[in-house]
Amino acid sequence: MYNRFIENFRRGFNRLKNNPQLIYTLVVACIIFLAFIFIASRFVSIALDAQDRLVNVRIGSIQDAFSVLASDKINDPLFLEQKINALVAINPTIKTFQVIRIDTAQPTIIASFDPQEINQKSNDLSNNLLFTLAHSDPSRSFTAEDVVSGERAYKTVRFMQTASSTAFASSSQVIILTKESLSAADKSINDSIRTSILIFIGIIVLIMYLFFRHSRIIDYTVLYKKLKEVDTLKDDFISMASHELRTPLTLIRGYAESIREEGNEQTKKYSLIIDDAARQLDGLVADILDVSRIEQGRMNFTLQELDLACTIHKYIDRYISTAADKGLVLSLDLPEGVSVKADETRLGQVLVNLVGNAIKYTKQGNVSVTLSRDQFHAQIRVSDSGIGISAEEQKNLFQKFYRVKNKDTEGISGTGLGLWITAEILRKMNATITVESIQGKGTDFIVTFKSS
Ligand SMILES: Nc1ncnc2c1ncn2[C@@H]1O[C@H](COP(=O)(O)OP(=O)(O)O)[C@@H](O)[C@H]1O
Ligand SMILES: [Mg+2]
Repeated sequence: MYNRFIENFRRGFNRLKNNPQLIYTLVVACIIFLAFIFIASRFVSIALDAQDRLVNVRIGSIQDAFSVLASDKINDPLFLEQKINALVAINPTIKTFQVIRIDTAQPTIIASFDPQEINQKSNDLSNNLLFTLAHSDPSRSFTAEDVVSGERAYKTVRFMQTASSTAFASSSQVIILTKESLSAADKSINDSIRTSILIFIGIIVLIMYLFFRHSRIIDYTVLYKKLKEVDTLKDDFISMASHELRTPLTLIRGYAESIREEGNEQTKKYSLIIDDAARQLDGLVADILDVSRIEQGRMNFTLQELDLACTIHKYIDRYISTAADKGLVLSLDLPEGVSVKADETRLGQVLVNLVGNAIKYTKQGNVSVTLSRDQFHAQIRVSDSGIGISAEEQKNLFQKFYRVKNKDTEGISGTGLGLWITAEILRKMNATITVESIQGKGTDFIVTFKSS
């Protein structure tokens, strides 16, 4: 149990150590927590203050009113009692209301809300200081905190001006003393504090939730970094493996050719099959190498002014016989003088891909490469009268590994990488590729360069 705790603690500590963002988040959460406590306590003290002041003002006004009302009725206990009862009735928080005469050593209660107190001596010594204060400034009330049956209360005194007509006006002083319970005020403040604490707990839960979410995002970030590393390793491996595959493939093709030249009919047939398979494998390896180069940004481009007719002849002329072997006519319509800025080898690769596809996916008819230009653009159009591509399939055509699967393409081998590589190469050369096709009629691939 103890060991498990230590183990968990160590794991948590290591997690924090490896993810400084977590520490940052924790610090932010703590700051928010402390700031909330600080602001809440400030608000509570301000509210308490304001409440106390309000209570004071109210009692002060009540005492002022009573003082004015009763100044010439000091000798009329019945009147005083009536007024006191009336005042307490509309101010139920007042628990004590006494009118005290001070003319001997012991102050005497001459009127009170509690009839039993009348004519009693007021023997609370703590009142003396308040009486002195009241005497020092007869125009206002003085308040001190007190406790009445366990509840917070305010004890307030006020000097009472007595009319000169009253019997003891000259020889004695009259003081009003009230005790006001603060329990109602305290209850409302406590209710507010309780609500605030509930809100606070809600906020803490929210912060914790955000914190854990955030820490999960950090997990994802770490995972993402790892994935990227693995991805780079994979790319490195693919590019290394593809390079290594090419050497034996070249050897196989070389020996297959030697056998073809020297052997009998049977061996010639077999060597052709070997060569064909090796060529396919070579194409696949080349495609995979290109994909990894493009993805790693390692495919280099040397842009130069190219005469398109020349470049197309250079890369495509040899396909005239390939097409003818399949019974197709490959025609080139290439006006002179159309030039664009491009990388020659890469453009050659694009042309070979497009013309290769056109021958591969055309069973009969013809394939043509035409060149055109207007004021702004130069266009190479590779058209065929082949199997065509449906509108639905055209949408996915330039995706990696996408191949149309239907009766027409059955038995035609390929990787689905050619068009993706083609589109990527053209993008790097600021050119675009689009497709126009009708299923069963034929397909046009159009490569557009901005005029140079
Ligand atoms: N000229 C074309 N006519 C009909 N379909 C084509 C043509 N060119 C490409 N396609 C379709 O697009 C798919 C993707 O082409 P590509 O990326 O070159 O892959 P691959 O030729 O290796 O299959 C092909 O599998 C084929 O279904
Ligand atoms: Mg292809």
